[in-house]
Amino acid sequence: MRVAISTGGGDAPGLNAVIRAAVLGSINRGWEVSGIRRGFGGLLGDARIVQMDQDSVRGITHLGGTILGTTNRGNPFRWPLLGTDGKWVEEDRSNELIDSFHKHQLDGLIAVGGDGTLRIAHELYERGLPIVGVPKTIDNDVAGTDYTFGFDTAVQTATEAIDKLHSTAESHERVMVVELMGRTAGWIALTAGLAGGADVILIPELPFDVDKVCDKVREREAAGRHFSIVVVAEGATAKNGEAVFQEAGGPGGVGRLGGMGARVADAIAERTGKETRSLTLGHLQRGGSPTTRDRILGLRFGAAAVRVVEAGRFGVMVALKGLDMVEIPLDSVMGEPRLVGLESELLLTARDLGISLGD
Ligand code: F6P
Repeated sequence: MRVAISTGGGDAPGLNAVIRAAVLGSINRGWEVSGIRRGFGGLLGDARIVQMDQDSVRGITHLGGTILGTTNRGNPFRWPLLGTDGKWVEEDRSNELIDSFHKHQLDGLIAVGGDGTLRIAHELYERGLPIVGVPKTIDNDVAGTDYTFGFDTAVQTATEAIDKLHSTAESHERVMVVELMGRTAGWIALTAGLAGGADVILIPELPFDVDKVCDKVREREAAGRHFSIVVVAEGATAKNGEAVFQEAGGPGGVGRLGGMGARVADAIAERTGKETRSLTLGHLQRGGSPTTRDRILGLRFGAAAVRVVEAGRFGVMVALKGLDMVEIPLDSVMGEPRLVGLESELLLTARDLGISLGD
């Protein structure tokens, strides 16, 4: 048996734990295992395919990032190529990838990634490749799994940042606005905002009214609380407004959200007269050593994926349901991301605490 593992999309703390479990699980079954470098790029000659052994995964569980490298511009169906006129064009290189997979005599591929990678994995499975998916993203928005690894670490980092902003906010009697990642899902903002004691949390699932945000700041002011902490998810939108992008989507890639925190800060300063500062936490949320929870989830996903390969069940994704590791068809993951439910208990908790959601 020869299996391969690849990591695609944005990196997330816990990826190395998945790799370690998948590699050791394979080796302990007497299989050969290869690491495909830089997403699917290794199969397209863009990067190398490396033979993995115990030594290649020694001491990596606690490391952030991915030892295999990754890209979020590596869709073989829409591969970005720079044309002779200097313009980017997209090329379908899926046939080349499938040929390369067979040329390397691989019997299975464990593809670790977010919705983009899992969509590609599903398309490749439909074209005959034996693929098992592993869900990954700090955004926690992959459908079909209760949690993705990376999320807990990102929330921990974001919560620590909010904790630190409290001291300046309170000392200077300022409003501090912090923009957090999460794409179109508010999981990071809501969870870190709750844990960090934010006064306002704005998430994409619940379009906000900036006047309501200012009301909260004024209400606190009147109550003698001369500072406020406002958490803004990067994908949050004003009612009847649009998301803010710092970069439009290019070939093979998606647009980069960012800038809503600064806009909200400007509006608060203008309307309330309060001194306001904004900060975008950015990629700090993706970095660093994974929390224990993310390490364990990564190890469990990696080991479970090997068991699924052993059973010969392909076209599925391993997933966490409650306390259990399950497998679900890859095609059931396609479609909409998993968003914060408007009646979810987490959101109700925020309301019960008197946190303004800007609605
Ligand atoms: O999906 C993970 C994520 O960090 C999002 O939260 C964020 O919008 C995006 O990736 C940033 O992507 P990039 O690393 O390409 O800037």
